[in-house]
Amino acid sequence: MRAIVCSELGSLDALRVEDRDPFVPGPGQVVIDVRAAGVNYVDGLLCQGRYQIKPPTPFVPGGEVAGQVAALGEGVSGFDVGDRVIAMTGLGGFAEQAVVSALSLLPIPERLGFGQAAALIQSYSTALFTLTRRTHVAPGEWVLVLGAGGGIGLAMIDVAVALGGRVIAAASTAEKLAAASAMGAVATIAYEDADLKTRARELSGGGVDVVIDAVGGPHSEPALRATRASGRFCVIGFASGSIASVPLNQVLLNNRTVVGVDWGAWTSRAGDENRALVDELMRMVADGRLHPPVPSERPLADAAQVMAELIDRRAGGKFVLVP
Ligand SMILES: NC(=O)c1ccc[n+]([C@@H]2O[C@H](COP(=O)([O-])OP(=O)(O)OC[C@H]3O[C@@H](n4cnc5c(N)ncnc54)[C@H](OP(=O)(O)O)[C@@H]3O)[C@@H](O)[C@H]2O)c1
Repeated sequence: MRAIVCSELGSLDALRVEDRDPFVPGPGQVVIDVRAAGVNYVDGLLCQGRYQIKPPTPFVPGGEVAGQVAALGEGVSGFDVGDRVIAMTGLGGFAEQAVVSALSLLPIPERLGFGQAAALIQSYSTALFTLTRRTHVAPGEWVLVLGAGGGIGLAMIDVAVALGGRVIAAASTAEKLAAASAMGAVATIAYEDADLKTRARELSGGGVDVVIDAVGGPHSEPALRATRASGRFCVIGFASGSIASVPLNQVLLNNRTVVGVDWGAWTSRAGDENRALVDELMRMVADGRLHPPVPSERPLADAAQVMAELIDRRAGGKFVLVP
């Protein structure tokens, strides 16, 4: 079976396609024939050695997949060969097969294709965690989403709208803003060309209640300044490559709150609570309350190219690799 292999942390150009032996499942494990592997911004950081976690090399990147059960290990029940499943692999997703603990499997809701299912969990769990656990978006509240046309941005819009929020989407291109509007944003700001603070205040009638910042850099401070009394500023990530420093008087003023969000770290500590979060997410998807985007499909061999496009800001929306 073919797999994308990272033999040394650094340039994405060093990634290679290798042929490997097919997996045999151990006790409690399941082998999945991967139909789609979700590509996230963090996958590229991980291979470049720029992420907080540095896996020993060689490794196969890819943290989330959707596919069909190919073989069941001893003691596994509740799944049959051929079942459509989602799995969080941690690593190992960019391959024709993945092997995971049966405990990490989720059945794919009928209404989702393999691509949507493979691109769902990381972005949408982060969004649901942010908007229902780290802060609470109430119906009618204004939510300003930076990087709104990216994977996290689109998921945040979808979840915020499902909770009754009114979303203002900020992004760099007309295409990304159109994707954000299609997801349910009621207003948009082309933040490279506009005064983000002033426009967000105007559009929300005085200030937004919640900011979702997965971008960082020069947009963070104006977004914080755009929040109204008791506003919450959620720090999700730094896709711009730059961690903003903001004057703390802007937190004091108006009783604002800065909320840190680290879904990955929380999952490793909060097993049952995370399972409840993911179950809630899957119910919302199955009920049609959420609308995971249909991702762009690329061949497995394009892994490095897709990761580079995300890291270099050339791509919008979600991507999956189809082995
Ligand atoms: N805290 C958590 O638990 C958690 C969980 C998952 C991901 N994250 C983080 O969230 C961030 C976004 O992830 P994602 O999957 O949404 O990534 P993505 O799909 O690549 O979207 C990121 C967006 O950031 C914007 N951006 C601005 N400057 C950029 C630059 N110099 N290079 C690349 N993008 C730039 C782009 O929008 P514009 O072009 O419109 O500006 C892009 O669409 C990443 O830092 C990731 O590590 C955090």
